[in-house]
Amino acid sequence: MEYHIKVNSPLIFAPMEGVTDHHFRKMILTEYPSWDYIYTDFLRLSTNQNYKPSFILKFFGIDQYDLTDKYCQKVILQILSTPKSTSAYNILQIADLGFQWIDLNLGCPSKQVVSHKGGSYLLSNLKELEHILTTIRKNFQGYFSVKMRTGYKNSENFKDLLHLIEDCGVDLITLHARTQTELYRGKANWEMIKQASKQSNIPIIGNGDIQTLEQLRQFNTPATCQGVMVGRGAIRRPWLAQQWYDNKKFSLAQENTLRVAFMHKILETYDFLDSTARLKKMKKLTHYLFDSHESIKKSQLLRSNTLREFMQEAEIVKPQFKD
Ligand SMILES: Cc1cc2nc3c(=O)[nH]c(=O)nc-3n(C[C@H](O)[C@H](O)[C@H](O)COP(=O)(O)O)c2cc1C
Repeated sequence: MEYHIKVNSPLIFAPMEGVTDHHFRKMILTEYPSWDYIYTDFLRLSTNQNYKPSFILKFFGIDQYDLTDKYCQKVILQILSTPKSTSAYNILQIADLGFQWIDLNLGCPSKQVVSHKGGSYLLSNLKELEHILTTIRKNFQGYFSVKMRTGYKNSENFKDLLHLIEDCGVDLITLHARTQTELYRGKANWEMIKQASKQSNIPIIGNGDIQTLEQLRQFNTPATCQGVMVGRGAIRRPWLAQQWYDNKKFSLAQENTLRVAFMHKILETYDFLDSTARLKKMKKLTHYLFDSHESIKKSQLLRSNTLREFMQEAEIVKPQFKD
């Protein structure tokens, strides 16, 4: 079976470390199959090259890479690499396991990651970035994408970055339109996504702050980008991809019902954890599960002492505005 990459306006579920582990990814692809792709959170390449193949496959969520497997067709392995940890050996190990599409993280803003010259740090050093991109490109024949921000401290070298990435043979860019310094503050700059699409000969997937069908309609247009990735908004509305393809609006009451069903799915997904761990997980997700105007609800949920209390509180959500 040939690997087919749908680059015609894909809708992609974003990688989110601490959320999108392989249990979560499987649940999303089963319950919300309209997402075209979902990225793994990042696999940190190791400097001493000591990953066993079974560790990489387990991280990805499988025992063996199999192109006929729907999961393998839809899940993209994201790696986090530094100038030190990028080696032909590391990349060939992934290539030899059969992966058809890998993504390089050039966006992580965390202090720990950038202090090791990984993630968004690489946007500030074109020489080191070039070394990493060419090492990956030379040793990986499959589809190779990067997920980047618009720059490190600022976006002054944005055009140079786009040129370099394209010249190094990268096949697709996902652009979270903020700099490292901006973290998640302010608004994502969709104008820069539009500019990048105009300037690049490779597809640009736009990313940042999409929460609703209306926003998808506004930004997922050929004039702006060649597809959209949704992160926090996809936890809030995992049904968003289906809404897009069905062109269907939901009322607030319908969304509340869908959200409660999603929360139950999450609990089922992690039923191997004890109730304290599951309550902790649900509390962690609470921040993303509700819209910003629902802050009262969030604080009530965060005060729950048991899972039962939490779910009871969640299930009596009433729409705060008239439909
Ligand atoms: C909790 C969390 C974890 C994240 N982990 C990753 C990651 O592992 N790899 C990555 O490329 N981006 C990661 N991101 C960034 C998201 O993929 C996305 O680019 C960002 O949240 C902006 O999109 P959004 O506004 O749709 O959420 C993470 C974001 C959040 C909130």
